[in-house]
Amino acid sequence: MPVVFKKAPGKIILFGEHAVVYGHPAIAIPVRKVNATARILPDISSQPGNIRIQAEDIQLDSNYTDLAENHPLAAAVRLTLQEIAPMHIPSFTIQISSTIPISAGMGSGAAVTVALIRALSSFLGAPLSNETISNLTFEVEKIHHGTPSGIDNTVISFEKPIYFEQEKTLETLKIKHPTHWVIADTGEKTPTHETVSAVREKHNENPEKYNAIFKSIGSITQKARRSLIQGDVDALGHLMDENQTLLEALGVSSPRLDTLIDKARTAGASGAKLSGGGRGGNMIALAHPDNIVDIERALTNAGAKRVIYTKLMEAAQR
Ligand code: PMV
Repeated sequence: MPVVFKKAPGKIILFGEHAVVYGHPAIAIPVRKVNATARILPDISSQPGNIRIQAEDIQLDSNYTDLAENHPLAAAVRLTLQEIAPMHIPSFTIQISSTIPISAGMGSGAAVTVALIRALSSFLGAPLSNETISNLTFEVEKIHHGTPSGIDNTVISFEKPIYFEQEKTLETLKIKHPTHWVIADTGEKTPTHETVSAVREKHNENPEKYNAIFKSIGSITQKARRSLIQGDVDALGHLMDENQTLLEALGVSSPRLDTLIDKARTAGASGAKLSGGGRGGNMIALAHPDNIVDIERALTNAGAKRVIYTKLMEAAQR
């Protein structure tokens, strides 16, 4: 059996985080400058069925059967084996690594799962479709996040810009006009399930108020879909700023996010907002081709831990 190597990209949410959990649309894009990789090496010296998992980034080197049932990597292996139901399970080692920052809103957990499932299903001679990979990853995401909307597993499995709404047919966006995005990491790490729970508590206390905020975010996202397709950078920038104001009202921004957003706008960004769960993690700014470098510099000078530039264009994304 040959060695199998598969990758999955990071992702960033452009519009609609949090509101998407309550049934409103969101827009996300894959970010290929960072990725998770899974390599599977056959191990002919061990007993058949012996599966070893190594993830250097988290100092893990363990037999699959020694991991807790709800360990995300063990769950990914188990779900893949259940889906494929192979007649024979050989011995092999799964090696996982990732350049995607953890707990920063870039989909590191989902990307590791997608890469693992894609590699394992290919290794077992039964490569799974993007849709099945996405569905299995969603099950693992529930371990990470509790009540994920499904946006991370979807954008990362399909590797396309998406307009996503729970329980609706997926729309992949046809982008004809390139847009330029600068992503900056605050370095603050807040797990998504914490911010999602905090927002849920507020929503439970005052559903009317928070439903109105989610609805406004949803309508911004609908407008952003059109502006993105038309390449209307000024309109998109305004919509990002409006979305950020509403995220602040949800209580998921942070002083560091606010500073980076402010610096990006001052350096000429058309708009800027936090991305993902918030209270840290990443922010994203929409740049013009002639101010990308200024925005990157402003964010670095303001203390961003990592700055990533990504160009969104259907064919040129790879
Ligand atoms: O923090 P991230 O990028 O994994 O995204 C969270 C997005 C939320 O809308 C806050 C949660 C979700 O499951 O969609």
